[in-house]
Amino acid sequence: MTSSKMWGGRFSAGPAAVMEAINVSIEFDQRLAKQDVRGSRAHCAMLVAQGIITEADGLAIQEGLARIEKDIATSAFHFKRSLEDVHMNIESRLADLIGAPAGRLHTARSRNDQVATDFRMWVRAAIETLDEELAKVQRALIDKAEKHAGSIMPGFTHLQAAQPVTFGHHLMAYVEMFGRDRSRFNDARTRLNECPLGAGAIAGTSFPIDRHMTAEKLSFDQPMHNSMDAVSDRDFALEFLSAAAILSVHMSRLAEEMVIWSSAQFGFIKFTDAFSTGSSMMPQKRNPDAAELVRGKTGRIFGYLFGLLTVMKGLPLTYSKDMQEDKEATFAAFDTLELCLAATVGLIDDMKPDTEKMRASASAGFTTATDFADWLVQKLNIPFREAHHITGAAVKLADGKGVDLGELSLADMQSVEPRITQDVFSVLTVEASAASRKSFGGTAPDNVRAQAAAARKRFLKEQPQ
Ligand code: ARG
Repeated sequence: MTSSKMWGGRFSAGPAAVMEAINVSIEFDQRLAKQDVRGSRAHCAMLVAQGIITEADGLAIQEGLARIEKDIATSAFHFKRSLEDVHMNIESRLADLIGAPAGRLHTARSRNDQVATDFRMWVRAAIETLDEELAKVQRALIDKAEKHAGSIMPGFTHLQAAQPVTFGHHLMAYVEMFGRDRSRFNDARTRLNECPLGAGAIAGTSFPIDRHMTAEKLSFDQPMHNSMDAVSDRDFALEFLSAAAILSVHMSRLAEEMVIWSSAQFGFIKFTDAFSTGSSMMPQKRNPDAAELVRGKTGRIFGYLFGLLTVMKGLPLTYSKDMQEDKEATFAAFDTLELCLAATVGLIDDMKPDTEKMRASASAGFTTATDFADWLVQKLNIPFREAHHITGAAVKLADGKGVDLGELSLADMQSVEPRITQDVFSVLTVEASAASRKSFGGTAPDNVRAQAAAARKRFLKEQPQ
């Protein structure tokens, strides 16, 4: 084997097989090919504009790169393992295509600023894609929430029935969570949008380059201010993975609720055959595998984040080859998120709530006890603490009789607090309870409808009909 064409000047023999095996990145970094060509075209235009290379050489390079761009887009580009990474594959192909001028492209550039630039552009595009996919999840949730703005279900704390809420309200909680995910990714996008190109290997360059020009051509807001930071920073990938980890927590919590809700014991929702799997042994089973896998894949995403945090934590400035490990984690996180987001949309669309069962469950467990206490405060001017105590006694009485609060007789009620009147029964149904929660952000069906309409505007930029 001969030494590398690109950096082999001082090496006499080619890499040992194991060296190539550990060093090679083309299997994964070919995903940066489009960005690499774009970066090179911007760099080349700048070199010409600054008189660093001739117009003729610049033209030849641009033509060669255009051809490569096309081959990449049509998957006709042949990546070679022996050429180590995407940058050297493309430069080598350029040399095959145009000969000598290809050697001028790398003037005032290093693979260190090159890869940092490519990778930033890739993560930026990934964030834009995820934003669209997250909007689809939000849309699916809002659609369902609008249909079920008035469907009563038990709201839980400690997974114990707490107060009646509506299914729509519950789903809208996730719309907020995914909205924060979008905002987190967009924050990361804002911070990442500075261009490392022109930092060179570490210290900048003696050539009269124009970093503002390349930054602008590549749609960055500005060039990065410090050349050493530019080549050694991977915060953008860490932020991407952090936002990915939090997003996967949200998808996992929703998936977990779907698993619980679809169990026979809860029976709140059903999935159609499209989203259910059978058991090889137990004929009665309908398993929510897709939801379980969305929940399960969270483990990988955390792993990718921790993997890269660990890679980065001990690295002295500036570039070290360890940093080549940044890409697989980031690519894999993106792929996993895309899959889970699509599955989440499918699951949301597919689930059929059993509103009767939800309502019945919401009535069990004295879920309107707070309404009882609030009535005592509002109608009898009893301090809340005392009202809480009286309610506790009423719950105890009902529990002993095996009935719900609303099923106690007025005489029973008055045995607990003599001033209670018939009017109290009007607040003890789950519908009345939910409908009374009109405070901003509360679960009253009218609120939920208004929240859903507002969410369409806030998150989906839809105008109200
Ligand atoms: N494949 C390398 C990476 O992904 C490109 C940068 C190589 N730089 C270097 N100094 N060897 O990090």
